[in-house]
Amino acid sequence: MFITFEGIEGTGKTTQITRVKEYFEAQGREVFLTLEPGGSRVGQELRKMLLHVDNKDLTPITELFLYLADRAQHIAQVIRPEIEAGKVVLCDRFADSTIVYQGYGRGLDTKVLQQLNEVAVDGLWPDLTIVLDIDPEIGLKRATLRNLEEGKAKEEGRFEAEHISFHNRIREGYLTWAALNRDRIKIANAGATPDEVFDRIKSIIENNLTQQSK
Ligand code: TMP
Repeated sequence: MFITFEGIEGTGKTTQITRVKEYFEAQGREVFLTLEPGGSRVGQELRKMLLHVDNKDLTPITELFLYLADRAQHIAQVIRPEIEAGKVVLCDRFADSTIVYQGYGRGLDTKVLQQLNEVAVDGLWPDLTIVLDIDPEIGLKRATLRNLEEGKAKEEGRFEAEHISFHNRIREGYLTWAALNRDRIKIANAGATPDEVFDRIKSIIENNLTQQSK
């Protein structure tokens, strides 16, 4: 099984993914946790380039191809082998981030992006995608604070440094894209307490498993 998690900065994705991992492990499943960008060895190099604040001069197209390169390598070297080994693969961001950030955020054509995603994922789409939704003002504050606390304001701060209008477009982009892909993409309100958010995620996963077994 392949589940991806999406959302703007600062939704609490990392906390929730850890809880989902524990949920599957309690059922005796083996879980593999990964992320984009940076889920493969080469991807870790690409992540540094993509997220460092010094690289504000990346053009939207260059940025796009770096994310796609990261994804192609991640699928081939990590995600596909782990799924074939029977594990539940949980991925923090995936192809929908490209549609939303490079498409709705940077203004590239989402149809073209979807075709390029098809090439990068090589037939391996997630079974389920959960979008954590939160007010961008709140999310951005949380993410900026976290980067500062972890001493990563420069290394990981390129997107946090974008104007609030960019983050509002991203949030709207996720909602629009989720509505266009209702079967696969589900939304969870991330403004609630961590326990409430997890309950919502758990019910999405359980509904999805019931649907799959029908
Ligand atoms: P994060 O690991 O802190 O979520 O940071 C990854 C950043 O990269 C985040 O701001 C979203 C952005 N991103 C894209 O713009 N396009 C993509 O395809 C992916 C995977 C991430």
